[in-house]
Amino acid sequence: MGWNSWNSFGCDIDERLIRDTADALVGSGMRDAGYQYVVVDDCWFDPQRDPQGNLRANPERFPSGIRALADYVHSRGLKFGIYQVPTEKTCAQRGGTYPGATGSLGHEEQDARTFAEWGVDYLKYDWCSPEGTLEDQIAAFTKMRDALAATGRPIVYSINSNSYHPDKNGATHDWSPVANMWRTTEDIKPVWDSGNENEYPMGVVNIIDVNRGLAAQARPGHWNDPDMLEVGVYDVEGFKGLTDTEARAHLSMWALMASPLIAGNNVTRMPDGIRDILTNREVVAVDQDPAGAQGVPVRDHGDREVWVKNMADGSRVVALFNRGERPAGIRTTAREAGLPKASEYQVRDLWAHETSTTDGEIRAEVPAHGVVLLRVSAQG
Ligand code: DGJ
Repeated sequence: MGWNSWNSFGCDIDERLIRDTADALVGSGMRDAGYQYVVVDDCWFDPQRDPQGNLRANPERFPSGIRALADYVHSRGLKFGIYQVPTEKTCAQRGGTYPGATGSLGHEEQDARTFAEWGVDYLKYDWCSPEGTLEDQIAAFTKMRDALAATGRPIVYSINSNSYHPDKNGATHDWSPVANMWRTTEDIKPVWDSGNENEYPMGVVNIIDVNRGLAAQARPGHWNDPDMLEVGVYDVEGFKGLTDTEARAHLSMWALMASPLIAGNNVTRMPDGIRDILTNREVVAVDQDPAGAQGVPVRDHGDREVWVKNMADGSRVVALFNRGERPAGIRTTAREAGLPKASEYQVRDLWAHETSTTDGEIRAEVPAHGVVLLRVSAQG
């Protein structure tokens, strides 16, 4: 769990933003709710390596340097992450919005050592090139995995295979031996449904439709990454942003799918309602459950779906998921959720924070574009 600069700020980043964000993560209670990694995405670097080929920070935006920034983030009880690519150019460099060609190609061990010396705890490694076969990608991502391991510093390894996302070109490669987390789709945008399937840009439901088939790859330490959160992100590339109902549904489904929870909003100017959504500890606990199971759909009636996640304590988390444009009653049973036979079940509503009991029938009225998230356990 953490925060990443990309969804709200793109290339428009500097050390003050990152320090202010670290402060706001602490002040808002997000750090204590579990958001730990502060990740600086594309555009942090000087467009030129130094004469020895070392990466260095962009001197205007990060005049104190990355080590000082990582120290600051650590001093706030947080961890520090950074962005790089296995190819010649980052996405911003390829797209021409940022100068230079400072990718790690041919510098892998050197860059991994630099990151470890700076105190980096997380590397986002992003294949930003339409060129290359799947085998090229496997080789390049494995090379950095090994270079990071050789530094001896524990560094979360987050990869994005871009042109080989699942469902694209028939590629359903399992990256779990290579990385701690791997992107499964194109970039998310703050919209419920963009109408695109595995094509840029993707909305919340478009991403769910790709990620849902990949549950077997997820396990503790190795996670499908359906991209960062759009909770509280507004006015990006013509997208107005999610409603609060959609934002709760988005977080609910990411938690149910045991996804990395990487906030993407401006936490220095976060409305209280958005803070309350992101820091709902009962929902975060679903995401962070030690069993690490990715929940799956068990019932699908068009726009009305029932999803279930098996929890380490034997309870089941049930998401009643209404993709449609109208409120809908959605039902399931404790048995369909996989719970053992019992005379009574306890049902905890993780957004309403209310507990009730049932003899097995589970039913709720779910708003349009909404999720009712329930943790259900057998009693006696
Ligand atoms: C593509 C990734 O999918 C985004 O999350 C972001 O890292 C950009 N690249 C940065 O250029």
